[in-house]
Amino acid sequence: MEKITSLAKRRGFVFQSSEIYGGQNGAWDYGPLGVELKNRIAQSWWREMTQLHDDIVGLDASILMHPRTWEASGHVENFTDPLADCKKCKTRFRTDMIPEENLSAKKCPECGGELTDTRKFNLMFKTNIGAAEDSASLIYLRPETAQGIYVNYKNIIQSNRMKIPFGIAQVGKAFRNEIVTKNFIFRTCEFEQMEMQYFVKPGTDEEWFTEWKKRRWAYYERMGVRMDHLRWHQHGPDELAHYAKDAYDIQYLFPMGWRELEGIHNRTDYDLNRHTEYSGKDLQYIDQDNNNERYIPYIIETSAGLTRNVLMILSDAYDEEKVADKGNEDDWRTVLRFHPSLAPITAAVLPLMKKDGLAELAQEIRQELKEEYAVDFDLGGAIGRRYRRQDEAGTPFCITVDYQSKEDGTVTLRYRDSMEQVRVPRAELAQRLRQEIKSYKRVK
Ligand code: GAP
Repeated sequence: MEKITSLAKRRGFVFQSSEIYGGQNGAWDYGPLGVELKNRIAQSWWREMTQLHDDIVGLDASILMHPRTWEASGHVENFTDPLADCKKCKTRFRTDMIPEENLSAKKCPECGGELTDTRKFNLMFKTNIGAAEDSASLIYLRPETAQGIYVNYKNIIQSNRMKIPFGIAQVGKAFRNEIVTKNFIFRTCEFEQMEMQYFVKPGTDEEWFTEWKKRRWAYYERMGVRMDHLRWHQHGPDELAHYAKDAYDIQYLFPMGWRELEGIHNRTDYDLNRHTEYSGKDLQYIDQDNNNERYIPYIIETSAGLTRNVLMILSDAYDEEKVADKGNEDDWRTVLRFHPSLAPITAAVLPLMKKDGLAELAQEIRQELKEEYAVDFDLGGAIGRRYRRQDEAGTPFCITVDYQSKEDGTVTLRYRDSMEQVRVPRAELAQRLRQEIKSYKRVK
């Protein structure tokens, strides 16, 4: 993890929040390469959910919602972690994360001091809206994006004439006052989720649950993730969230071990029933194709962390390799083997020399390609060193402009993964990149 964290900082993927003030725990800033990577992951998920599914539409609901939402959802009552403090060193622990022998002896795992009794700690951030700071102005930062979908479900049925089964997808920020925020961007207080809620007829929920498990697994496979680093984990009775009838996590083998990446939940009719009760509004679906049959739909949820996916993709892509290619200064390289459709930079144009019109020619090629691709231009230093810099940024293609380019209009296309170099006519570059991205298969 240290290597990934240090590369992320060095190359401008992720910075500590408010670093000049000593940093803000649980918050991170995405730098130039990081924001591109995060946006591409979100776009890929959005395309998968909305463009490739005729029955799923998008939504962007607000972070601030009516406080009754969180009473109805059960978060005010149930969204808690068990906590204890050490009376001596003042460290705060999630008691479900400390060894059983310490817990039963009420002994601090850090300093051996006495632990307080375990108490429940609600993870929602509270703030106040308006000028007064009293209980009437209390408002929460949403701890999941899902509730914004549930409260809009009727609006979307009416405005978009949706018929069950159908889904609503959303990407957005969520906030949790997490006590343990180690492991870089894995668990943070401010993060982003990519959630899709699929509304189905009661009785068909188990079938749809199995179907969505299959679809989400296939998605990661298509994204080129190392499938031996993914596995399923079914929630046992003690792990199930208060709303779930059944839940499976897709876990990824992160540098610190197997951890949850995404959850697929059968939320039943819990949420819509509770919103019916708390809002007093009728949230039944009326099936006009079936004698106006009325029912509260069941909901199958797929809930992935976007920022957690960034860490997964960075970990999955990270590689160190012994190499012996021409122009190389040492024989090790660090390379991020991103799928080309996720890479922050798709291609880097590198003139072999600044002089003799090569830089100008390379600029022309960059201008041509940037309409379609994220293109970098690098003039500085030996070509081998420039390749290394692009390998570290995960750039799948380097285009080198040399003296032959001036004569016959060809350039060298260098592949990040194999380091193979081929000559390609400049006029065919855009098309060639398109093909390479489409047919990309990770080999290492
Ligand atoms: N709506 C259901 C829900 O929020 P969850 O299992 O609590 O379920 C879903 O969260 C996903 O959100 C997780 O699989 C994880 O990827 C991400 N996530 C949850 N808490 C997070 C945190 N504190 N920091 C980063 N990502 C988080």
